[in-house]
Amino acid sequence: MTVTDIPASDTKLDLPPLKLGNITVETPVVLAPMAGITNTAFRRLCREHGGGVFVSEMVTSRALVERTPESMRLISHDPDEQIRSVQLYGVDPETVGKAVRMLVEEDHADHIDLNFGCPVAKVTRRGGGAALPWKLDLFTDIVQTAVREASVGGLPLTIKMRKGIDEDHLTYLEAGRIARDAGVAAVALHGRTANQFYSGKADWDAIARLREALPDVPVLGNGDIWSAEDAIAMVRQTGVDGVVVGRGCQGRPWLFGDLMAAFEGSDTRLKPGMAEVSAAVYRHAELLVDTFDDENKALRDIRKHMAWYFKGYVVGGDLRAALASVPTLEVLRGLLDQLDMSGEYPGSDAEGPRGRAGTPKRTALPAGWLDNRTVSSTEGAELAGAEIDASGG
Ligand SMILES: Cc1cc2nc3c(=O)[nH]c(=O)nc-3n(C[C@H](O)[C@H](O)[C@H](O)COP(=O)(O)O)c2cc1C
Repeated sequence: MTVTDIPASDTKLDLPPLKLGNITVETPVVLAPMAGITNTAFRRLCREHGGGVFVSEMVTSRALVERTPESMRLISHDPDEQIRSVQLYGVDPETVGKAVRMLVEEDHADHIDLNFGCPVAKVTRRGGGAALPWKLDLFTDIVQTAVREASVGGLPLTIKMRKGIDEDHLTYLEAGRIARDAGVAAVALHGRTANQFYSGKADWDAIARLREALPDVPVLGNGDIWSAEDAIAMVRQTGVDGVVVGRGCQGRPWLFGDLMAAFEGSDTRLKPGMAEVSAAVYRHAELLVDTFDDENKALRDIRKHMAWYFKGYVVGGDLRAALASVPTLEVLRGLLDQLDMSGEYPGSDAEGPRGRAGTPKRTALPAGWLDNRTVSSTEGAELAGAEIDASGG
């Protein structure tokens, strides 16, 4: 990879390692949990470039307690993953507690994160995901139960949330205080409301307000970090103890190399040419074959990464189309061999926003959900369905 220098004044920052309970994370960077993305294959690619915590795809606590094959895959880690991090989602304190206990007793994790950020209608419509912190009793119960069960094994438990449902129904400051009082090891905030989905800009001022409101627990900032410079800017602007990076590393697992360099005060940045990108794509596909033990499934999965990997690079339209529907490793090899391997890093065209965006929409909620900050008996019955098909944040 070629390396480009940027002025040191833009990047130097003296941030101590991130402490998550008894775990010290030298590079204060977290790979955001992303359903369908942050499987063992992608986590390996990312951590080969830099340090941090690399969180699994979300697993629902009910499916985990029921030991469905998919949930067991979701919590699996490579033997050399040093901080085995699992993200759990749940709406029922008892089931969440059982899921945490299972992770602890069977030694499946070193760190557990709870997801309270899912904006998807089929989840929020029943009061789950980003709608849940509005109900202070239930939120408190889930977090307290999870922290208690995690503490039995000495595991740090963190939460990840959004600002709230919409600008008139913000929950992050209260939820942050409740979580802090419950004994979480850190609180991560994605600076958007559920209404925003992934649209607009993440509100870093809200992240700064949370940091200020919770001086006694690590706060992690999330939203719109597309480069190491963005990460440094977020830390400067908000005072957070670490950053959580999602879409910015889609098709750019080497971003973790840039982040590590930046947090170490180095100006070195990775600028991969076509040959390196092509090698990364093939390796990603091979790792996915290992992960799924199913070449067909793995190749279907790698297709969604193609546009991200080749963003800004010169690839003909026909070849792009063929890569986006590649059926086997052998065909992938042949297609990649058609690329111009002398192609250099295209600069800013390869950087910047990628992945989910969308438009704001009103969050679907159970009738009367916003009228009361505690769960009624009808709402409780509806909530039971809010774990079904939950997929993401
Ligand atoms: C494809 C995709 C899947 C996601 N899945 C999850 C998830 O399982 N759990 C979660 O807490 N957040 C999930 N998120 C949200 C991200 O973790 C992150 O909060 C969000 O993308 C904002 O960060 P970014 O601007 O760095 O992407 C997902 C996001 C995307 C794009």
